[in-house]
Amino acid sequence: MSNTRDQWKSKIGFILAAAGSAIGLGAVWKLPYVAGTSGGGAFFIIFLAFTLILGTSLLLAEFVIGRKTQKSPIQAYKELAPGTPWYWVGILGIISSCLILSFYAVVGGWILTYFVRSLTGGMTNPPTGDYGMLFGSIISNHWEVGIAHLAFIIITILVVQGGIQKGIERASSIMMPALFVIFIILVIRSLTLDGAMQGVRFFLQPDFSKVGGDTILFALGQAFFSLSLGVSIMVTYSSYLDKKESLVRSASSIVGLSILIAFLSGLAIFPGVFAFGLEPNEGPSLIFTVLPAVFSEMAFGGVFLSLFLLLLLFATLTSAFSLLEIVVSSAARNQPERRKAAAWIGGLGIFVLGIPSNLSYGVLSEWFVFGNTFFDNIDFLVSNILLPLGALLISFFVPLKMKHQDLKEELLRGSGLGEGFFRSWMIMIRYITPIAILFAFLDVLGVW
Ligand code: PFF
Repeated sequence: MSNTRDQWKSKIGFILAAAGSAIGLGAVWKLPYVAGTSGGGAFFIIFLAFTLILGTSLLLAEFVIGRKTQKSPIQAYKELAPGTPWYWVGILGIISSCLILSFYAVVGGWILTYFVRSLTGGMTNPPTGDYGMLFGSIISNHWEVGIAHLAFIIITILVVQGGIQKGIERASSIMMPALFVIFIILVIRSLTLDGAMQGVRFFLQPDFSKVGGDTILFALGQAFFSLSLGVSIMVTYSSYLDKKESLVRSASSIVGLSILIAFLSGLAIFPGVFAFGLEPNEGPSLIFTVLPAVFSEMAFGGVFLSLFLLLLLFATLTSAFSLLEIVVSSAARNQPERRKAAAWIGGLGIFVLGIPSNLSYGVLSEWFVFGNTFFDNIDFLVSNILLPLGALLISFFVPLKMKHQDLKEELLRGSGLGEGFFRSWMIMIRYITPIAILFAFLDVLGVW
């Protein structure tokens, strides 16, 4: 290992940063609104099953690649499969990350705008009394959300340029515990509202009659998106992990934390929605239109709203760090003096790439390509095509291109597990995962 290469200071730092990448808009924005429209608890159970079985296998596959090579993705694939085009999986990961961050930062900008407005009292009583209109007016106000979009990217750059230990690990070690504490406060508040149980029942009592083929496939995509898989981000993060740490134990903690947050997210959101007689099937604007209305009905609602927005901001930022880190680690290639320039050039480039997504809610709202806005097209391209493609290629790469002895050694070291676990994982990664992804993929492409 190069002695100039940065490393996580502690295993817990790595777990918090990787869980920070995983826990983001997927768990606190997408999952509740999709569960709200697709059978509540039933969707959640299917999502859990995919996360536990397929997500964990793929997470371990990315970990094995990163930790074995201790290199950034392109270099890692080149080392493991020299002279072959497999390094394109790394390039694909970088392209996907830039695209994800380009729209992620736009939503991050909305959250930042809401947060600043909530602190200055501009949220509890919208002049119109209608949060749907307020949301529409905020996201179409280019200057305000444009500046917030840029501010979100600059915060991300400032953290990532600091490096693994002094940047990402330090920030995640503050933001992630804060996020858990805020979640607990919000869940307690939500569960003690009159009529909360109806929301709990909606979320936890599965209604399988609403589950169709689409729901199942969507749950699969959501499981991968929620664990940041298919982009080689987990290859990048694990490349900074000390050789002696157990990959299986780290992966279990990361998956466990992600599931816990997805669960808390439902418990924080649905009881409030039902207690105030609002609709759970509002769609993507659920957390931006329904929740402020819920909070505005509560005593100290302004405080709870600000806390919720802070939580969202931390969740989104820690995911954004990982998306920029893959770009920076690939450009800086273990030379710390190049990090700063790579972070600024990469981050600002991604900001520019995100401008059309931002304008999709204003002047470009009528600009449709393939029947969708720019924002929706980028989201679709990444979530439904590039991520499953990346995940599929990684599940082919590991059993085909890595020596089984190396895989076994990396995977089992320090875990206390034996040959049986290794064999089961190989079956998952070699057969079950690719078949499941292929099904989801073909469905997205409209094959049946
Ligand atoms: N896992 C993040 C979320 O659920 O919001 C999104 C994400 C981050 C996806 C990083 C992919 C990625 F590489």
